[in-house]
Amino acid sequence: MIPPERFTTGRLIIRRAQPSDAGAMFERWAQDPDVTRYLSWTPHRRVEDTEAYLAFCTRQWEARREFVWMLQAAESDTLIGSISARPGDHGINLGYLLTRDAWGGGLMTEAATAVTEWWLAQEGVFRVWATCHPGNAASARVLEKSGFQFEGRLRRWEEYPNAGAEPMDSLSFSRTVREPSAPDNRP
Ligand SMILES: CC(C)(COP(=O)(O)OP(=O)(O)OC[C@H]1O[C@@H](n2cnc3c(N)ncnc32)[C@H](O)[C@@H]1OP(=O)(O)O)[C@@H](O)C(=O)NCCC(=O)NCCS
Repeated sequence: MIPPERFTTGRLIIRRAQPSDAGAMFERWAQDPDVTRYLSWTPHRRVEDTEAYLAFCTRQWEARREFVWMLQAAESDTLIGSISARPGDHGINLGYLLTRDAWGGGLMTEAATAVTEWWLAQEGVFRVWATCHPGNAASARVLEKSGFQFEGRLRRWEEYPNAGAEPMDSLSFSRTVREPSAPDNRP
């Protein structure tokens, strides 16, 4: 399944990442330790790191393994972040970030809701889910505001190389096509 290369929302253009985004991405967020604090990668040191990442994104898209879009402010064309979707196990794993000066305005809630709702309308997709570091209150709140439910704490689930050397717990949230019908056998 290949998603659209472009979505639009009230305030955003969400369009496929391109190799030519490297300069803006490097300058605006890829080297920023505040943005990357709870991400799975360390800040980029040189624009070549960002170029290599975007080349990887192109290969991932072609292989349908992961889809990465850039977020552009609709009225200014400025790149303000990215959002990604990784298919697997009848679901989609979402990732996202915003450049620091775009935090706090509800923009990621807008982007995450649009991308999630597109996936949930596709045949064979039953679940969209995302994890975050337990200290990442803004991300947890974005997921709640986007209609996701907290489903548990995954112990030692993920590496957060900017927060520590070992795998750490993650909070997991999901939105599903409908509530599960299977009986819950727990007391
Ligand atoms: C996570 C992130 C995308 C949030 O985007 P955003 O557009 O600023 O989010 P929103 O404005 O829609 O909502 C943020 C919510 O978190 C709340 N929040 C922010 N910081 C908080 C904190 N430290 N403690 C508690 N709540 C916090 C805000 O009050 C807001 O909730 P409200 O609308 O109920 O007031 C942004 O902070 C970011 O890019 N962070 C760095 C990258 C990252 O961590 N990505 C996610 C990886 S899982």
